[in-house]
Amino acid sequence: MTFSRVDVARSLLGDCEYRPVDVFEAWAPVNIALCKYWGKRDAALNLPVNDSLSVALPDKGTRTRVTRLQGESKDIVFLNDQPVSEADGFYQKVVAHLNLFRLDRGDRFRIDTVNNIATAAGLASSASGFAALTRATAGVQGFNLDGKALSILARVGSGSACRSVFDGFVRWHKGEAVDGMDSCAAPLSQVWPGLRLGVLTLTGAAKKVGSREGMARTVETTPLYSAWPAQAEADIAILEQAIVDRDFELLGVTAEHNAMTMHATMIASWPPLLYWEPESVAVMQKVWQLRKDGVPVYLTMDAGPNVKLLFESPVEDSIRQVFPDVEVVKLFP
Ligand code: DP6
Repeated sequence: MTFSRVDVARSLLGDCEYRPVDVFEAWAPVNIALCKYWGKRDAALNLPVNDSLSVALPDKGTRTRVTRLQGESKDIVFLNDQPVSEADGFYQKVVAHLNLFRLDRGDRFRIDTVNNIATAAGLASSASGFAALTRATAGVQGFNLDGKALSILARVGSGSACRSVFDGFVRWHKGEAVDGMDSCAAPLSQVWPGLRLGVLTLTGAAKKVGSREGMARTVETTPLYSAWPAQAEADIAILEQAIVDRDFELLGVTAEHNAMTMHATMIASWPPLLYWEPESVAVMQKVWQLRKDGVPVYLTMDAGPNVKLLFESPVEDSIRQVFPDVEVVKLFP
């Protein structure tokens, strides 16, 4: 038996009271995975092969306003104050997500979505985007949903969006059910006020293969992928302990090793998937040199050329000396 996104929406929203309002606005943060989501067991529902664990970037993300339209036959979408044409893939993704919340009603909406992160910064806005759209559309329909339901609905838009429903450290439990009703994120209770994320924006990047296609290629073509689920599960357990103990070195080593392992599976795919640019490698080498020089700093990378640094507040000046353009994000109040 296979389940569609519409089945998922029906089972979560079918019994909700419909209390429409004219406009609803919501915010969701970007998240960076310390243990990555890479590989799906169900591509239609974005059900992952492994659990993943992320940290939210408190002030970076997406604000989305959903306004109910009267007498319109189509939805209208604005991204960063610019109208998006119906032929655009972004428009189609947004409308497909709205369809989940219309059920059998003919509701039409205007969507205004604004990312406060430069696309060039390599911080995926699709996670915060789908999380904010999920919250705002549920809100405009008056559906009273808990975090779990919001996370499941965000996940069917984009997997990593299920983690952007929450702040702080967040674990996405892969779940076992074929309909994915147990595949959702939950926040961890710990905070880490001294933890910092450094974003390095590299230029000259070639157009990348999207995560969706990249994951499918990796799962299908590399024998190395068979080692990934077990490493991810082991890494998550270590990361959770490192967070409880505030053991920065253990957190950094585990996150960097996890990212490098994910990239190893990508590189060993066919055709090869190499998201790194020469500048990415230059940054890695500087990070490794800094560590040799005694500065505790680790890196992580996603499906793009940009490198994100992990460090604690006391070494911020040393990091800035080597990377003057780094944008430093404080992760907890
Ligand atoms: C490398 O969530 O963008 O950033 O579910 O196909 O929309 P889809 O993929 P997406 O993949 C994110 C992959 C990653 C790792 C991570 O964020 O865990």
